[in-house]
Amino acid sequence: MDRFQGYAALVTGGAQGIGAAVVRRLRWEGARVVVADVDEEAARKTFDGVGGVRVVRCDVGDADSVAAAVAFARDAFGRLDVLVNNAFAPDLAEDTEGEWREQWDVTLMGAVRCARAAMPLLAAAGGRGAVVNIGSVNSEAYFGNHAYSAAKAGLASFTRTLAGEAAPHGVRVNQVTPGTIATRGWQDRQEQLTALAERVYPLGRVGTPDDIAGAVAFLASADAAWVTGTTLRVDGGLLAVNTHFGEVLGEF
Ligand SMILES: NC(=O)c1ccc[n+]([C@@H]2O[C@H](COP(=O)([O-])OP(=O)(O)OC[C@H]3O[C@@H](n4cnc5c(N)ncnc54)[C@H](O)[C@@H]3O)[C@@H](O)[C@H]2O)c1
Repeated sequence: MDRFQGYAALVTGGAQGIGAAVVRRLRWEGARVVVADVDEEAARKTFDGVGGVRVVRCDVGDADSVAAAVAFARDAFGRLDVLVNNAFAPDLAEDTEGEWREQWDVTLMGAVRCARAAMPLLAAAGGRGAVVNIGSVNSEAYFGNHAYSAAKAGLASFTRTLAGEAAPHGVRVNQVTPGTIATRGWQDRQEQLTALAERVYPLGRVGTPDDIAGAVAFLASADAAWVTGTTLRVDGGLLAVNTHFGEVLGEF
């Protein structure tokens, strides 16, 4: 497939996990990609020797760092067509007000900063401009993690409002909403992943980074040319199907 031939993309938090799968997918389909990650070393290790992929250190919690990463993409490729807001703040206890602020500052405001910085380039992309935000099922129901969930709910709202603002400039803004994806945050919880697959996920497994990358590629591509302001759940049926309800009734 070559849906992204001639495109340039920037993926935040692309060093590993879902972000890295998105980078690989966009590259496979022809895009040149900037990986903007706070862990520059990990990003370099992941994409060492991969042509068409450039790495820049970027902390989405810092406006100057974001501006520099967008400028890096412009200088490297001369354009920017696709922004994928994937970075988030992992591993916060969320006990203190400061931790709540940090969660919001990275997970929600990070996407806001990146979108603002990238918008002039996306608007100049001749109708190809697209933002894809990586949300979470936590924005729609309780799965723990209050601050993270609230930040992701804010991101879902921002997806809609930015879509409205960007539409007159020919830029589309959408969101992919993942369920449980086996990335490093789950690496020491294999038993729990197996139980979730067997007892919670209607499709009988948890997700892979490639499940999300495929959805991101669709929303970023011309195949979704008339799609904006929407959220695509990629969650194995988690939010739509209440498996416990059926268990109690003994019917499904
Ligand atoms: N894994 C899941 O189960 C799951 C479920 C729902 C949603 N998501 C969402 O998917 C996205 C990716 O999750 P993942 O599991 O692949 O995460 P991950 O921890 O594997 O990777 C996240 C990447 O973001 C980078 N990062 C962290 N803070 C950053 C910052 N301030 N600036 C730039 N980069 C930063 C990290 O260095 C890392 O490379 C996140 O938005 C997450 O909320 C994940």
